Amino acid sequence: MSTRTAASLRANRASWVHRIRYAVRHPNRILPYARRGARDLRLRLIHRDHIAYYRAVMASDTARDPKAAVGSHSQERWLALGRMQFDYLVEHGLRPEHRLLDIGCGNLRAGWHIIAYLDEGGYYGIDISPDIMIEAKKALVEHGLQAKLPHLTVTRDLTFDFLPDNHFDVVHAHSVFSHSPIEVIDQCLAHVGRVLAPGGFFDFTFDRTEGTEHHVLREDFYYRTGTLLSLAERHGLAARLMEDWEERPHGQSKIRVTTRA
Ligand SMILES: C[S@@+](CC[C@H](N)C(=O)[O-])C[C@H]1O[C@@H](n2cnc3c(N)ncnc32)[C@H](O)[C@@H]1O
Repeated sequence: MSTRTAASLRANRASWVHRIRYAVRHPNRILPYARRGARDLRLRLIHRDHIAYYRAVMASDTARDPKAAVGSHSQERWLALGRMQFDYLVEHGLRPEHRLLDIGCGNLRAGWHIIAYLDEGGYYGIDISPDIMIEAKKALVEHGLQAKLPHLTVTRDLTFDFLPDNHFDVVHAHSVFSHSPIEVIDQCLAHVGRVLAPGGFFDFTFDRTEGTEHHVLREDFYYRTGTLLSLAERHGLAARLMEDWEERPHGQSKIRVTTRA
């Protein structure tokens, strides 16, 4: 059952009208929101570029609770969200012999399922946050996946300049563009075609709006589907909204990108 209603797709969470209505409906969330806003303002003043800022957000969130830092507020939810991503990939083309690039892999919420499923060395996870990557290593140990020899690399951009041409059958980014300004998405789409193997695909999720594009605290970004489809097309890629993902109990939408050739 989709969690996206017509009202949620039109909402502009950055507007004062929305914020006041939200505060009236959820008075217990005012204080945590104010604290988060104050922390984010301080981090934005220290770190002027988005990646440095978001890396600092992740450091702060991970220190408090690594699972909540990737958006799951309980172990049960962390397991379920990882499983949902993995099941969808397998239902939509992932095979054990594939090589997969997981952009913004976090603490391997989906990654540990994918690593267990792929042949040795098939998984490549990248993330901007060294703090969450330390948690990723812990998840690897917890799940006894050392022998699968996954690659885990900290990055600060999405040019993939250290990765070979035509290498990955699957590229995956879950809940990453929902935290990314358009320049970051643009950079990724400009370069992902080079690392995709022939016949490969790139699936990413995003927070969808069908109203005004906006962001909240420069942490959560809301885009129109058309904006992202056009951006992919401008980089010579084919892109489509994955309608069947809309039925999953997850607040974001998913786009699949393929190379035109
Ligand atoms: C909400 S978490 C999701 C993690 C993982 N994909 C999952 O579903 O569990 C977002 C992750 O993306 C990372 N991230 C955010 N912006 C990024 C970027 N531009 N490049 C790579 N990683 C990024 C964050 O550090 C964080 O680990």
